Amino acid sequence: MDELEEKIERLASMISESKRIVAFTGAGVSTESNIPDFRSSKGVYESIQKEYKQPAERLLSHSYFEAHPEIFFDYLRRFLVFPDALPNDAHKSLAALERIGKLSCVVTQNIDGLHTKAGNKNVCELHGSLYRNYCIKCGEKYDLDFVLSAKDIPRCKKCGGIVRPDVVLYEELLDEDVMEKAANEIINADMLLIMGTSLAVYPAAGFIRYFRGENIVIINRDATPYDGSAKLLIKAKAGETMRAVMNKCKIEF
Ligand code: APR
Ligand code: ZN
Repeated sequence: MDELEEKIERLASMISESKRIVAFTGAGVSTESNIPDFRSSKGVYESIQKEYKQPAERLLSHSYFEAHPEIFFDYLRRFLVFPDALPNDAHKSLAALERIGKLSCVVTQNIDGLHTKAGNKNVCELHGSLYRNYCIKCGEKYDLDFVLSAKDIPRCKKCGGIVRPDVVLYEELLDEDVMEKAANEIINADMLLIMGTSLAVYPAAGFIRYFRGENIVIINRDATPYDGSAKLLIKAKAGETMRAVMNKCKIEF
């Protein structure tokens, strides 16, 4: 049995013994749904930096949105939104684990809505979602289609204010209630399953420190700063790995 098979076996038995798993995910769980992640080569950062000749952290910031809304919505439509993307085996396996009562919550940094699309009911979206949009003047709510169908800057039908996605840009704060819920879920978990994230962005990455157990699993293609704290580290594709683990556990997904 090769090293990967042995690790899949170990993860399958850890999952079988767990009763309260929390998954912590990043953009790497959506690359097998053909959504590029942020920091890998050919990722969103590389694309928008090349296109707009600005550092990604600046383009994706609140002050840049305020100063250049037309550029914000241009890169949003071209590089951030994938409305036809479908959940892959990484998302589907987490939905199955919630369905059979083993997974209590997905805490995600992703804004692509794929965990909800896969069927997970309890999802903490630390960085919000592209599927929720609102008028910055009157608060009127809009869906993603409204933003995508607008010619350039989406304007509120009620008051003419700019309609923006409910996502956390650089310089913006995470939602207090979402943070509290995510922290509580992680504190009460008996296993933390970290998938597809570089764990490079705070405060999101810091949430894994709420975990009190030792069953930390990381499934990530590249190295992360927390690899040393993982009881089980699998450097492989999340979707492929979770498909193999679900089959090993004989869990329909
Ligand atoms: N399977 C496993 N890991 C993968 C896969 C895959 N199929 N594809 C990519 N990865 C890994 C990459 O190796 C990388 O370490 O996923 C990680 C993705 O890291 P980032 O691109 O930095 O994405 P993320 O960690 O979600 O970024 C956090 O930064 O830009 C902000 O708000 C944005 O939520 C985002 C946050
Ligand atoms: Zn309005």
